[in-house]
Amino acid sequence: MFNTRVKVKALLAAAPAGQEVTVMGWVRTFRNNQFIALNDGSTNQHIQIVAPLGQYDDAFLKRITTGASLKVTGNVVASLGKGQAVELKATHIEVLGDSDAEKYPLQPKKHSLEFLREIAHLRFRTNTFSAVFRVRHALAFAVHQFFHEKGFIYLNTPIITASDAEGAGEMFRVSTLPFDNPPRTPEGAVDFREDFFGKATNLTVSGQLEGELAAMALSEIYTFGPTFRAENSNTTRHLAEFWMIEPEMAFYDIEDNMNLAEEFIRYIIRYAMEHNAEDLQFLDQRLAEEEKQLPQDKRSELGLLQKLEFVLSNAFERITYTEAISILLESSHYKKKKFKYPVEWGIDLQSEHERYLVEKHFKKPVIVTGYPAAIKAFYMRMNDDGKTVAAMDILAPGIGEIVGGSQREERLDRLTARMEAMHIPAEELDWYLDTRRFGTVPHAGFGLGFERMVQFVTGMTNIRDVIPFPRTPKNASF
Ligand code: 4AD
Ligand code: MG
Repeated sequence: MFNTRVKVKALLAAAPAGQEVTVMGWVRTFRNNQFIALNDGSTNQHIQIVAPLGQYDDAFLKRITTGASLKVTGNVVASLGKGQAVELKATHIEVLGDSDAEKYPLQPKKHSLEFLREIAHLRFRTNTFSAVFRVRHALAFAVHQFFHEKGFIYLNTPIITASDAEGAGEMFRVSTLPFDNPPRTPEGAVDFREDFFGKATNLTVSGQLEGELAAMALSEIYTFGPTFRAENSNTTRHLAEFWMIEPEMAFYDIEDNMNLAEEFIRYIIRYAMEHNAEDLQFLDQRLAEEEKQLPQDKRSELGLLQKLEFVLSNAFERITYTEAISILLESSHYKKKKFKYPVEWGIDLQSEHERYLVEKHFKKPVIVTGYPAAIKAFYMRMNDDGKTVAAMDILAPGIGEIVGGSQREERLDRLTARMEAMHIPAEELDWYLDTRRFGTVPHAGFGLGFERMVQFVTGMTNIRDVIPFPRTPKNASF
């Protein structure tokens, strides 16, 4: 019975020929005991329902409150009111679920994003979050479509793992051992041989190493799944649980890798612009409103849609790490001592440095290559200079690092030497080294942080507002 309903989006596009339809959704507003704005999440436009005066008694009309859910049958007619072409002249209204107006936290007025984060279970019911999550869906769909069209295989890498792909040591332990009294080795350490998997395990920080194994047979694969990092970073760009897309390609060098990443980013942006134009227009206006609160020099030069158009039509800047350091050292920003962190060859670029390069200097996305080996992961391919590796980070305006990737070290001797220098035990990664022992090939890959991408496309400032239920230090509500 319920599946005979039409969605509001389809209804708004229908010809007003008096035909009878049924819609279901949630009341946004109810005016003059007559006009109901109903929304079902298919679009930010509401269908106006007209409840003919005198047809319903007061007790019933009182139940039509913001947040209540309705099933309405009526006739599609041309609307006399402003703002919509069609409206529904109700013949039958049923309240599916009441919503106590006194207690409902979402009043029909503007709420702050901070407040909405506290009621994340209800924030889907706002125009902003409906739009964000529709765009997030479109981007996810476009990710699969892009790689599918290119013949990549979608690979599901494990979420529980005994390996630390990045050597970063910022992992969440997975264990069924009792916390208060774990089994101990004779030396007194926790004895993980007694644990569920017979060894210490964690939530994955990246599916890359497993992705490489598959790429050494399937040629081109990609992962798209949740990854976990226990870094204590309370910023607008860090989550403890985030989704990452990691393509891995045999027979690719760093140049091929950059080209693919650029094409990929453009493809998914274009997809969202074509399929979610209305939502992006809404988010464009929302951002413009938000930025009105900022001092002039803190506002973006381009609006959201202008920025996306710009990214579609301009190649990303490509520079080496060494060039990036020179640009920073020569900047008036540096000379006026405006950077908080030191700048010299060898540093890990801080977000203030990345943002200077992207927002002030180039004013467009930038791909930085050739980072010092010492600050990058063991698997990155050593360049001929013996100092830098074939790494690439893509930095985006307003976000900073959005992609991290590299050409991988395919030469067994170089790889094992690097692991030794970084104190990574070869026994633990013997399976990984097998790919270099048996038919090794040049290969490369990258990781795109999905939430950072959604931030970029929706213009949302805080990463907590582009994932339904954010996990951050001291917060795992819902
Ligand atoms: O640069 P990262 O750490 O690279 C890797 O994990 C590689 N294994 C990827 C690869 O080559 N296959 O992370 C990749 C991207 C970052 O550029 C960033 O966009 C995102 O993941 N990211 C985060 N996003 C949200 N919250 C965090 N805590 C993130 N850490 C990384
Ligand atoms: Mg990185």
